Amino acid sequence: MGLIEQKLFPGKKAEDIPALAKAETEPTIVPFFADHDIMVNPYPLYQRLLRDSPVHELGDSVVLMRYADVSAALRHPKVSSDDAHGAGQQSRIASGELPQNIVDSLGQRSFLHRDPPDHTRLRGVVSEMFTPRRIERLRPLAQRLVDEAIEATAGRGEIELIEELAYPLPIKVVCELLGIPAKEHLGEVAWKRSQLCCDFEAPASAGACVHYSAGVQDDMTAYFSRQIEAKRGNPGDDLLTLMLEAEQRGEISESEINDTCRLMVVAGHETTISLITNGLLALLRSPDQLELLRTRPELATGAVEETLRYDSPIQFTRRVAAEDLEINGTRVRRGTTILLWLAAANRDPERFTDPDRFDITRPDSHQHLEFGGGIHYCLGAPLARMQGEVALATLVRRLVNPELTLDPPIYMPDAVHAIQAMTVKFTQVNPAS
Ligand code: HEM
Repeated sequence: MGLIEQKLFPGKKAEDIPALAKAETEPTIVPFFADHDIMVNPYPLYQRLLRDSPVHELGDSVVLMRYADVSAALRHPKVSSDDAHGAGQQSRIASGELPQNIVDSLGQRSFLHRDPPDHTRLRGVVSEMFTPRRIERLRPLAQRLVDEAIEATAGRGEIELIEELAYPLPIKVVCELLGIPAKEHLGEVAWKRSQLCCDFEAPASAGACVHYSAGVQDDMTAYFSRQIEAKRGNPGDDLLTLMLEAEQRGEISESEINDTCRLMVVAGHETTISLITNGLLALLRSPDQLELLRTRPELATGAVEETLRYDSPIQFTRRVAAEDLEINGTRVRRGTTILLWLAAANRDPERFTDPDRFDITRPDSHQHLEFGGGIHYCLGAPLARMQGEVALATLVRRLVNPELTLDPPIYMPDAVHAIQAMTVKFTQVNPAS
């Protein structure tokens, strides 16, 4: 187990996890991260909150759970992504609770945490690399990596899905996109899952994680400084070169290039791992859906969208009210943190019919909020979709009689609904197509 898991779940094993009793009785989302029983299946709790308390206060924050509210907040012009506006952060800085090095690091935030005009400028520099056409060029690489991972395990009759496939796939693909060497990258200690999934880039709100999170950020910054220097002498047809060209035109600074590199790895890594694991888990638990995808591989697109809706990799995101405002009738005071519970909105019965059913033919699954909305809509969505389609369609087609060795698997305590390990047994491997 990683550091954070050890701290939160000392001595816990999967077989110690009782059924979902707590989700029936706990009144708020507070115990979510600290309670593995809820992490295993938070959805009964979300259904109860959607029914009884869809808007509620959590400390200094307001939690929004309904699809309509989350969607409106994502698009509200006065709802900010820059938590420097947050009353909580300001008071922690003023009281000296946050060490100076962390206060200094708050300036090194990627465009995910910035508002216009900086957000518009920085997103504009990189967006041309994320068109569906451009991303399609990475599909053969993704297919090759998935096929190789499956073949490597064929003789063993089982695959540790995360370690052997879902972890290396997105990191290698994103390294290719950035134009940096994947091998060296994979060797870096700072890229291990439990470290990436701590509250990275938000040390000011990371509580006990604050030093740890800032340390990971420092390691990554140093790593990308070296990569940026190497790329200056060796340009290519890649994202890092695109940013260095924009630097020449005065559109982005070197430190902003570094911030953007870190964002790409963090935003695109743990999330894609969870898309693949959550998707295969849902398919294995719904054999009719698995069979449907096996016989009709063109449904891979629907399987990816339905996974994102049904078992969302990112459970929630954060915003701050930049001024006193109203969201669908809820009044929010300036400086209040707003928690947008994407995973609950994606199961809102007012938006999706029979929301707890996993159905890869659902006609409106792509309307989920799992890629956010408004100006911060996930830039990497075409890349995530492509990798998810390749991985799920290939796993389902090539693994014969796939079966989980442990259900439920063990989850990590994080805003990414992340499984720690997931072994799948099979009787044989079909040839690559
Ligand atoms: C299943 C996989 C993924 C999920 C569920 C996901 C989800 C999200 C969400 C919810 C946001 C918006 C957060 C907010 O507004 O607070 C976001 C933003 C972003 N994502 Fe993804 N993401 C995924 C994969 C990727 C990949 C593969 C990349 C690229 C390598 C990527 C790059 C980004 C970037 C750059 C942003 C910031 C956009 C902006 O602020 O304008 N994501 N993602």
